[in-house]
Amino acid sequence: MLKELYERQSIRHFTTQKVEEEKIEKLLRAAMNAPTARNRQDWRFLVIRNKEALNTMQELQPYTGMMKEAACAILVMSDTKETDSVEYSYVDCAAAIENILIEGVHLGLGTCWCAVGPKQERIDNFRQYYHLEDTLLPVGVIAVGYPAETKEKVDRYDPQKVTYFD
Ligand SMILES: Cc1cc2nc3c(=O)[nH]c(=O)nc-3n(C[C@H](O)[C@H](O)[C@H](O)COP(=O)(O)O)c2cc1C
Repeated sequence: MLKELYERQSIRHFTTQKVEEEKIEKLLRAAMNAPTARNRQDWRFLVIRNKEALNTMQELQPYTGMMKEAACAILVMSDTKETDSVEYSYVDCAAAIENILIEGVHLGLGTCWCAVGPKQERIDNFRQYYHLEDTLLPVGVIAVGYPAETKEKVDRYDPQKVTYFD
C-alpha cells in the first residue's frame, strides 16, 4: 500500500513556516505527471504567495477560510483551447490536483483541495481577480503549508460500494 494515500487528509490549519521553492516545484512536477485525456496536458498553474490574495480569497469562494493560514495556494486551471470538452478539463485537472495532494503528504506538507468550477460565479471571480484569459478555466485551488493540526485517520473502504462483473 502507498502510505501517503492513507495519510492524506484535508488540512485547514497551518504553521507560519514558508514552503520551500524546491517543494513547490516538486508539487508541480507531480501534478504534471498525471494522466490527461489524449495527453493534452491542458493544465496551467498559478502559485499564489501574495498574502493579501490569500487573506481575501474567501471573497471569491466562501469555503477557503484556511487560505489565511496557508503559506501559498496553487490555482489549477485548464487551458480550454487544448481540450475537446469541458468535462475533460475537469478530469485532467482533478488528476493533477490529486497528485499534488499525495506528493504533499510525501513532503510533509498539508493541503486542502477547494473547488472553483463549476460554479460560474466563482469562475468569474477568479478570472477577474487574477486577470485570467477567458479560455483559462479555474477548476480548483489548493491550500499548501506545513500542517498545524492532526486528525484522526479514517479508513473509508466500503465493500458494499463494490460489485464484480466476472
Ligand atoms: C472537488 C472538491 C471540492 C472541495 N472543496 C472544498 C472547499 O471548498 N473547502 C474545503 O474546506 N474543502 C473542500 N474540499 C475538501 C473536502 O471537504 C474533503 O476532501 C472531504 O471532506 C473529505 O475529507 P478529507 O479530505 O480530510 O479526507 C473539496 C474536495 C473536493 C474533492
